[in-house]
Order: sequence, then structure tokens, then C-alpha cells
Amino acid sequence: MDRYEIADQYTIAPAQTPPPDRSAYHDVLHSDFQGHYADGRDVWTAERAMRETPLLLMRALGGTESAHVLDIGTGHGRDAAILLDHGHRVTGIDIVTSPEWPVLTAGRPDRARFLTSSVLELEGSAEYDAALDNGCLHHQHPDDYPAYLRRIRALLRPGGLYTVSVFQSADERGRLFVNGASRLYQEFTTGELTDLVTGHGFEPVTSHLVPRTTPGRNYLVGTFRATEPGQAP
Ligand SMILES: C[S@@+](CC[C@H](N)C(=O)[O-])C[C@H]1O[C@@H](n2cnc3c(N)ncnc32)[C@H](O)[C@@H]1O
Repeated sequence: MDRYEIADQYTIAPAQTPPPDRSAYHDVLHSDFQGHYADGRDVWTAERAMRETPLLLMRALGGTESAHVLDIGTGHGRDAAILLDHGHRVTGIDIVTSPEWPVLTAGRPDRARFLTSSVLELEGSAEYDAALDNGCLHHQHPDDYPAYLRRIRALLRPGGLYTVSVFQSADERGRLFVNGASRLYQEFTTGELTDLVTGHGFEPVTSHLVPRTTPGRNYLVGTFRATEPGQAP
């Protein structure tokens, strides 16, 4: 496939291979996201289809009234606000600090907190009932996927839920794209996402397609359950 517009005015092109230097890629991620937020180019913040993901997580949580949810790559905290409004506790983390975080914690410091951190460096174990990953996994360096998913698995209590939204591939195989600043965009088929996540201590729960405004483009939202320790794989 040729270059395409991932959102209004944003064109990405196929990438032949991921960049060889993973630590240099961490700097790319930080500077490109920081630049998008600073210049108001964070088109995802106002995208309606993005706000379906926390609703799908809450549906999977069923009657759980006050779950502690880790919002990975929280951005300006739009999903955190939805979860807080529904009575859940939220820890939002992001590699880029948002000026909107203090507004969300005001008046409810016991239920909301935000940290500037990569999930790869977030310490803790079995602390969260659920993790929300709305658009973060698919921008990571593919060599980091195992460490990234293992860290999320460790942060969740056994039985905890992981809801992740990625770019859906309409073809048989998801392809890797790159933007002008070298930030990666990985598409996934349902099978690819399921194989990847279940290979790191999770079992599948549900899978949904969320249509985007561009015809034929969808988010693929998978919910997975952290398996008990010692359970395969
Ligand atoms: C596409 S944006 C989505 C933001 C937010 N979830 C939303 O729905 O508006 C992806 C976010 O993930 C953050 N991010 C990227 N890699 C990360 C990492 N390894 N750990 C934590 N946050 C990360 C970016 O800074 C960015 O805010």
C-alpha cells in the first residue's frame, strides 16, 4: 500500500523495517508526541471513535463499581475523565506531561493521579484491576512489545482486564507505517493482536471493530484477561 492519510492532513508511509536503535526510538516517540501536543496537532484527542475504548473496557468490567484503572498513554486524560465520571479510580501515565492533569485531579485526589512515565519504567505489581491502552501499543518499537506487555501483565492483579485499541488491518497481514518524524504505526489483524497479547500472560475476552470517519478504517479493540500466575503461557 502507498502512503495514506491516517487522519486529516497526516500522511504516513510504509516502513520497510523498524529502526535498528530502540533507545533512539524512545527519543523519537517522546519528541514527536510532545511536538504534536505543543502545536495542537493531537488530532486523536478530539476523535469520537477514540472515546469508544473506555466504554468497551467498562462494559467488560460489568458490575465492578470502583475499579482501579491504569490509563497507559493517557494524553490529555479524556478517557480518564470518562472513567472517573463513572466512579472508577484512575492512574494515568504518559511520557508527555499534560497541563490538563491538575484539572482532573482537583477535588478528587484520592481517585485520580497522573504520572509522567513510560509504562516500560512504571514500577509496581498486581496493583490495578484493569489497564486501558487507547492508541499506545501500536506506536511502540516492535522489539519492545514483549517487555511492554509483560510490564502491563505484572501491574495487573490476576484476572485483571487489559483493553487495547490499535489500527486495524483490513488485509491478511498488518503493516508497519512511519510518519515524517520516524514515529511508527503498526496495523494489526484480529489474529495478530490476539497472538501477541495472549503470548504474554493474557487470555482473550472480547474483540470489537470501531469505525473511524475515513470509510474502511477501523480501530481494533481487544479486551484480554490476565491469567493466574503459573497458567500457560
Ligand atoms: C495516540 S496518543 C493517545 C492518547 C490518549 N490515550 C487518548 O485517547 O487521547 C498515544 C499516547 O501514548 C503516549 N505514549 C507513547 N508511548 C508511551 C509509553 N511507552 N508509555 C506511556 N505513554 C506513552 C504518547 O505520549 C501519547 O500521549
